[in-house]
Amino acid sequence: MGTVDPKKVPKVRLNTGMEIPCIGMGTFGSDRFSAEEVSGAVAGAIRCGYRMFDCAACYGNEDQIGEVFRKAFDEGVVKREDLIIMTKVWNDMHRDVAAACKKSIADLQCDYVDVYYIHWPFPNYHAPGCDVDSRNPDSKPFSVAEFMDTYRQIEELVDQGLVKAIGISNMTIPKLEQVIDKFRIKPAACEIELHPCFQQQELFDWLNAHDIQPVGYMPIGSPKRPERDIVATDIADMEVPEFRAIAEKHGVHPAIIALKWAIRRGQIPIPFSIHNYEANLEATVTEPLTDEEMATIATLEKDNRLVKGQVFLWEGATDWHDLWDEDGVIKDCPDAK
Ligand SMILES: NC(=O)c1ccc[n+]([C@@H]2O[C@H](COP(=O)([O-])OP(=O)(O)OC[C@H]3O[C@@H](n4cnc5c(N)ncnc54)[C@H](OP(=O)(O)O)[C@@H]3O)[C@@H](O)[C@H]2O)c1
Repeated sequence: MGTVDPKKVPKVRLNTGMEIPCIGMGTFGSDRFSAEEVSGAVAGAIRCGYRMFDCAACYGNEDQIGEVFRKAFDEGVVKREDLIIMTKVWNDMHRDVAAACKKSIADLQCDYVDVYYIHWPFPNYHAPGCDVDSRNPDSKPFSVAEFMDTYRQIEELVDQGLVKAIGISNMTIPKLEQVIDKFRIKPAACEIELHPCFQQQELFDWLNAHDIQPVGYMPIGSPKRPERDIVATDIADMEVPEFRAIAEKHGVHPAIIALKWAIRRGQIPIPFSIHNYEANLEATVTEPLTDEEMATIATLEKDNRLVKGQVFLWEGATDWHDLWDEDGVIKDCPDAK
């Protein structure tokens, strides 16, 4: 297997001073790949030069990935401090974040977490594999007070040395504006959906202006996402003709162009891959896209949101648009100022 020298992979500096690679590997098996298949890919990825992994308690595979990390440490392949391990508190643990974080640390066998995210900004959750139209009666709209209570618990984990930096995820500008002045420890990263046909330019600019690193999930447009996240109007980013033309010119799969675009734009992509992770890492050290190619891709925005989040809706919500504050107002928020 080919390797990429991790020292040659470009780095990004977070507002905490921590340096992290410009690419990480996603670990969500999309309900299609078993924990063993995902952790097997993580094992291969460490050996081919990946140093950052995006995990989450709700992906259901942290203990298998932890075994892989432990083996890599024991065999001297990497040291703990060589890895950037990111994970997330799931929505059902917002009232006991310390327990969730400690469980992730135990499962991942990693002693501390480099970036700990609030996976979604509300405590709504759904049973695995549930129907997209089902509503959990306990679900509720975003609340500033509840979000900040969750966030404060992570600030304490930073104080205790269990977490190095705080992440937020699936946020919007209206939600961020409600909380940005309330942090004691500023978030270092924000994980949001970002791919060529869903560029979220305004949110991306807002995060950069506030020195919060955008981390882009579904960087390839998640061709194998779970069935519940697929609707007929979704666009397959990698099939867009202008995009394919750039890939053909480079003689690579369009996925490689998506990653090169993400890196040059300044977001950190976290592609998931069982079969192509090596090529994806190589994309960070080979020829970058030209200004002209970047300009062409900038025109491909198609408002192609793939994770609509309908399973997180509360009773009384109309549809998934209510989750994303598209008209600048946080729907049904009890305490927005
Ligand atoms: N914060 C959040 O709420 C959130 C939400 C969704 C996802 N995420 C994170 O983001 C990660 C990535 O998202 P995702 O897995 O949904 O989508 P993705 O990374 O856009 O797409 C992954 C798919 O692309 C294929 N692929 C990857 N590289 C390729 C290449 N070079 N050539 C051809 N095909 C390639 C993979 O197939 P092969 O396996 O065959 O290579 C895989 O099926 C997740 O794993 C997770 O860590 C976070």
